[in-house]
Amino acid sequence: MNNDEQKVLQVGENLKQRFNSLPNKSDILRDPELKTLYAHISEVPDNERAIFGQSVNRLRAELEQMVHNSKAEEEKPTPIDITAPLDINHPSGKHPRLLNSLYGSQHPLMIELDKVLDIFYRMGFSAVESRQIDDDYHMFSSLNFPAGHPARDDYDSFVTSEGLIAPAHTSTMQNRVLKANIHLLEAGESIAIVIPGRVFRHEDLDPRHEHTFYQFEGVYVDKDVNAGNLIATLKAFLQEYYGQELEVRTQPFYFPFTEPSFEFALSCPFCKKAGCKVCSYSGWLELLGCGMIHPNVLKMAGIDPEIFSGFAWGGWIDRLVMMKYDIEDIRYFESGRLDFLRQFL
Ligand code: DAH
Repeated sequence: MNNDEQKVLQVGENLKQRFNSLPNKSDILRDPELKTLYAHISEVPDNERAIFGQSVNRLRAELEQMVHNSKAEEEKPTPIDITAPLDINHPSGKHPRLLNSLYGSQHPLMIELDKVLDIFYRMGFSAVESRQIDDDYHMFSSLNFPAGHPARDDYDSFVTSEGLIAPAHTSTMQNRVLKANIHLLEAGESIAIVIPGRVFRHEDLDPRHEHTFYQFEGVYVDKDVNAGNLIATLKAFLQEYYGQELEVRTQPFYFPFTEPSFEFALSCPFCKKAGCKVCSYSGWLELLGCGMIHPNVLKMAGIDPEIFSGFAWGGWIDRLVMMKYDIEDIRYFESGRLDFLRQFL
């Protein structure tokens, strides 16, 4: 073994010893002794340089592996002792520690969904979760999209070989919740239900489009319900959720299941309508589709549109949360990125 090879071995020994006492393990890769070895490569005689260079690289690879292993070790969750006795009468400081909160927490969308639902509960709504597999009748026909209707093409959905559909909106639940609650109308009460759920679309992915996202549908039916009630309800909800006075704007739109239909925008809470990147410099943010429930939709659920009327909406939970926290890319939500998720702990 020549001098140079011995030098690599010696530095290797030194660095491995130093590694154990380093608080930040990756500092080892910046160690001056390692740098000196690299600097020495150009001084090694031509015929030995390749061999020397290779052994320096090998040492570096070995150190990188050690850094990687120690990171993996650090991130390993503390094992849970499933046999630990959990007695709720223990003084709080003495409860066995079951799970380090760094390794398990609620997803930001679910944290925010709880807040959304809480506001609607206080407004007298109850909640029903939507489903993640559905059929053509609920996705389209029950919502007044006749077979072959061109508006079906606006919903590019995933379909199973049996013809079932991964719902592209939570509106698939309208017919079910209306039918299941007719008894409330018969008892002189209103139907007031909010329906959160996961939905799927065959989208080209970009910062504003994701194949999987969350919506919250709402239906309200009673006698003499009008569009003013719809707008007041949504405005009250949004002001409570964003904790500030907001200006809202409704624009006529088209959905087969509502007549009239609107798109609901709110004044941008970030720039107060001055224009900023969140609202694409328009001062307004589109948040919900909504409208007065189409008489055919009421009829298909067994409700007489001559007696009752109602409103419905479908909102994007991801968008609501993105606006609240200035999140620039919807794909973070499904990414599992811990640096993103930990900000919501
Ligand atoms: N389902 C619509 C969508 O995802 C949104 C929507 C619009 C829902 C109007 C409604 C409504 O309930 O009344 O594009």
